Amino acid sequence: MIGAANGPQIGITGLGVNVPERVVTNEELARHVDTTDEWIVERTGIRERRMASEGEALTDIALPAARAALADAGVDASEIDLLISATVTPDMMFPTSSALMADALGSEAAAYDLLAGCTGFMYAVAQAYGMLASGLSRRALVIGGDVLSSILDWNDRSTLVLFGDGAGAVVMEPVAKGGFLGFELGADGGGGVNLQLPGSGSRKFEHPEQILKMNGREVYKFATRVLVSSAEAVLAECGRTIDEIDVYVPHQANKRIIDHAVGKLGVPYERTVVNVDRFGNTSSGSIPLALADARADGRLRPGALVLMTGMGAGLTWGSALLEWSEAGG
Ligand code: UT7
Repeated sequence: MIGAANGPQIGITGLGVNVPERVVTNEELARHVDTTDEWIVERTGIRERRMASEGEALTDIALPAARAALADAGVDASEIDLLISATVTPDMMFPTSSALMADALGSEAAAYDLLAGCTGFMYAVAQAYGMLASGLSRRALVIGGDVLSSILDWNDRSTLVLFGDGAGAVVMEPVAKGGFLGFELGADGGGGVNLQLPGSGSRKFEHPEQILKMNGREVYKFATRVLVSSAEAVLAECGRTIDEIDVYVPHQANKRIIDHAVGKLGVPYERTVVNVDRFGNTSSGSIPLALADARADGRLRPGALVLMTGMGAGLTWGSALLEWSEAGG
């Protein structure tokens, strides 16, 4: 799916993020599996990640992010008519985490969870864009967050070291200046077997452990390919070039994957947001957490041209091109 925006201008007017307090270092993981800080840093760029404490679930982590996004936009939850929560680790399958969070915020917005792996946030903003551009929704809250620590295999060193927990949220609505310029989204279900959570649905498995299984090398190949192809596709569709990008926000999966995309795309490194060293791969929380860092360090200012690309389970990918709007309306 690809398209350049040709309707009303829809932008992000509020951004909020939240991560659990508990910091888990590489050294701590090395007490559980046969690994070292050196291996993890060299092969992934990850130094530490946040993980939920006992009893903490997705909505505990995502709600503060949602509240911060609403406050940033200066809107009340009652003014939201659409709430999408992109996640693969909801509190439970139903009631959906989006409905629970809408209720906690005091909103009767249409609310549903969206499942597109680590690309969930990109799919969710594209959907919200479509509903806002058509006039069906007037103001949307899009939340991306995951508690992947809840589905990790603590005996598998090749996956345990990669992931962390975190969430981000954005308010989307019509804007006078800037907004989304286009999207490119896709899926390759044939490669889905390379990143899966067997036993989590109606298909019965012999060993329904419900832990994340990944073929790292295959996902690595997929990631390096689609981060480049999807970014180039959305740029071409919108008639823009990589030189015009002020802030490049790739999915924070692995520093080596990001370095590869940066090199192939030819985007200057100082325009690229990298925080995988502090958070690891937070799945649907990855892109909003990176946006928040770019805003905190002054790169994400009104008028900045932002290129975001996510990829993950499905296998899925998705890019958006956005001219950053003034936060708070
Ligand atoms: O949102 C999408 C989520 N997934 C991803 O983005 C993952 C993409 N894949 C990757 O990032 C990389 O493939 C990994 C980081 C998972 C693995 O890095 P790699 O450089 O591709 O290593 P490898 O799979 O080629 O394995 C090399 C060796 C293996 O040992 P042998 O078979 O050569 O003896 C692994 O068992 O590294 C070993 N290994 C480890 N060693 C120490 C794998 N994980 C670890 C570890 N510590 N944590």
